[in-house]
Amino acid sequence: MSNDIKPIDLASVDWVLNTTRSVRQRLDFDRPVPMALIDEALNIALQAPTGANTQTWRFMVITEQKSKDLIADCYRRAAGAYVEGKTGLSKTGVTMMREYEEADLRQQQKAAMMKSGGYLMQHMQRAPVMVIPLIEGRFEHDDVFTQASMWGSILPATWSLMLALRARRIASAWTTLHLQYEREISDALGIPENYTQAALLPIAWLTGGDLHPAKRLPVNEVTYRDRWGQH
Ligand SMILES: Cc1cc2nc3c(=O)[nH]c(=O)nc-3n(C[C@H](O)[C@H](O)[C@H](O)COP(=O)(O)O)c2cc1C
Repeated sequence: MSNDIKPIDLASVDWVLNTTRSVRQRLDFDRPVPMALIDEALNIALQAPTGANTQTWRFMVITEQKSKDLIADCYRRAAGAYVEGKTGLSKTGVTMMREYEEADLRQQQKAAMMKSGGYLMQHMQRAPVMVIPLIEGRFEHDDVFTQASMWGSILPATWSLMLALRARRIASAWTTLHLQYEREISDALGIPENYTQAALLPIAWLTGGDLHPAKRLPVNEVTYRDRWGQH
């Protein structure tokens, strides 16, 4: 092993980390994305960790229009029901329907998210490429250790994929709504029953100008030191 320590261009690394957004309205549906770039990004994604180094991940790269149409149709059905509150899904925390105080940043950001979400819902099938990351096993009824270990063995790679694409000026959006029809999509794509889909990334070149850091809750509000609630 060489002792050379490679210099890191921190500004570029931070820019990618700070500006990788869920791009919905600025996906270029007309410009093909070279598969070589997707493969490059996937190779980087495979540097992500997996519990016990199992690497039981799989990545479906979808370009066939028939499949993209089916996935987009599932997504639309799921998103429609979600917005109308008709999914019957558990209400555990992660929902766009959650209401915050008027002054809360998340409440203020909601309208824009709804608008861009609606756009993606209508046009998702036009994305040149979709990627569905998967992990071997079904663990929805397992203990927290198992669930954390399984999700933790596919979600870091998913995020790395988005970052690696972003570094190549390719945009993507993290989505999960299609999972309400996970089985229907798995059957259509020949995915075995013992694999779990983790996300759906529509992928395309970015249109318009550059992306920018998002406004988030301040670090002080979400970080405690030594004792819960202590700053
Ligand atoms: C686990 C997860 C699930 C998400 N599911 C969806 C989705 O189904 N549809 C969608 O339009 N955006 C989805 N998003 C994107 C979030 O809405 C987005 O990350 C958030 O609003 C912050 O915006 P940003 O990613 O552009 O910074 C999801 C993000 C995560 C992390």
